[in-house]
Amino acid sequence: MIRVIEPVQSLAGSVKAPPDKSIAQRAALFSLLSDKETVICNYPVAADPQTALACIKMLGAKIEERDGSLTITGTGKTGLPKDAGTIDCGNSGTTMRLLAGIIAGSGTGAILTGDASLSKRTMKRIIDPLRKMGAEIRAAEGDFAPLQFMPGKPLTGIDFKLPVASAQLKSCMLLAGLFTNGTTVIEPVPSRNHTEKMLNLKTEAGADGLKIHSSRNHPIPVLDITIPGDFSSAAFWLVAGVIYPDSEIVVKETGLNPTRSGALEILKRMGADITIGNESRTGAEPIGDLRVISSKLNPTRILPEEIPNCIDELPVLAVAMAFADGISTFRGAAELRHKECDRINAVASMLKSAGAEVIEFEDGLEIHGNPGLIPQPSNYNSYHDHRIAMASAILAGMGHGSSSIEHAEAVNVSYAEFWEHFDNLAGRV
Ligand code: S3P
Repeated sequence: MIRVIEPVQSLAGSVKAPPDKSIAQRAALFSLLSDKETVICNYPVAADPQTALACIKMLGAKIEERDGSLTITGTGKTGLPKDAGTIDCGNSGTTMRLLAGIIAGSGTGAILTGDASLSKRTMKRIIDPLRKMGAEIRAAEGDFAPLQFMPGKPLTGIDFKLPVASAQLKSCMLLAGLFTNGTTVIEPVPSRNHTEKMLNLKTEAGADGLKIHSSRNHPIPVLDITIPGDFSSAAFWLVAGVIYPDSEIVVKETGLNPTRSGALEILKRMGADITIGNESRTGAEPIGDLRVISSKLNPTRILPEEIPNCIDELPVLAVAMAFADGISTFRGAAELRHKECDRINAVASMLKSAGAEVIEFEDGLEIHGNPGLIPQPSNYNSYHDHRIAMASAILAGMGHGSSSIEHAEAVNVSYAEFWEHFDNLAGRV
C-alpha cells in the first residue's frame, strides 16, 4: 500500500499509544508456562502481539476473549507437546527468540519459521548458547530461520555473559533457564527488563554486570496484567509534537519504564518541552501522560551506553536531529543493522531523500541538523519496516508538498491505528 502524506500545519489533541508490544508478547508467551489462568487486559491488535497468541495456541494454550480482555490457560512448564510442528513467528524477532528459549527448554520438537525479513535476521546469538545448554537445533545456512528444534533431553544450566546488549537474547536464555538446574545471565549493559520483572526473577549486582537467575525451581508468578501504552509508539508523537510548529499533544497512559524511555531524556536535553502528568502504575510498570509542545532543538550526541534504552526510537530520534540547530550523532548502534531492516542505512536514505545531510558509519549516523529544514517531496521506502514507515511519515508531513510512503501497511506490525491517529492530531477528521 502506498500512503500519500500531505503537508501538516500543526498537531493538536490527545492520543493513546497502542498497548506495549514487548510487554504484550511476553505476557502471552509466559502465560503458556503458567499452571493458572492469566487475564490480560488491553492486549494489542497489532500483528506482532497477535502472532505471539497464534504461536502459543500451536503449543496448546487456550485463549478466550471475555469483555475485551484475554483469558489464557497455559500448559504449564511440563504440559508442552512433544511435537508442535511448524510455528510461524511472522515478522516478530521477539516471538521467535523468546519462543526458542521455551521450546529448547521444554524439549518440544518444533520448526520456527518467519517472514522474509525475520528469515534474514541472525539467530546465531541464540543458537550458540542454547546448543551449549544441550539443545539440538538445525538452522538454515548462516544460522538463520527456519530453526528446527529436535525433541530432546533436559538442558543443563549455564552462566552466560551477554556478548551483546539484547533483551531478546537475555530473555531467551532466562526462559530456557526455567527448565534447568540453574542458569545465570550476566548483563554488562542494561537492556529492557520486562522479562525479569514479569517473571519475578532474582537479580543481583555483580562485578561485571547485573546477574539474573532462573531455574526449574522458580515458580511462575501470577501474570495478570493490563498492558501499558507503548513508549516506542508514543515516541513518534513526542518527536512530531516537538518539530511541528504551534503544536501541543498529550500522549496518554504511556509506559515509562526507565529501561525503555531513554528517548525522553534525550529529547529533553535537546530542548524538547515535554512534561509528565498523571503518573501511576500498571502492575510493575510506571505509566504517565506525556504533554509535548513545539520546541527549538539543540543538537546532541547519543553515547553507546545510552543506545539499548532508546534502540527502537533511534529512527524517529534521527528525524528530531535533522531539525536541531547543529550536528548530532549516535554511535555504538550497530545492532540497528539487525532489526526489521538495516535501520542505519534506511534512516540515512530517508533523511537524504528529505534533503538532509547525513554521514553513515558502520555503527551510527552523523546528522547535520537545520531548524529551517523543509523536507522535499519524496517517495519514501519503508523497507517493509514499521518504524521506518512511521518515522518517514512524521518527516514527510513537515514538507511543503505531497510525499508518499511505500509499503505503508508495515505500521500494522506495532501500531495499526497510526494513520488514523496522525489524521486526528493533524485535524484532518
Ligand atoms: C525487544 C528488544 C529489542 C527491540 C525489539 C524488542 C524485546 O531487541 O529492538 O524491538 O521485546 O525484547 P534486542 O533485544 O534484540 O535488542
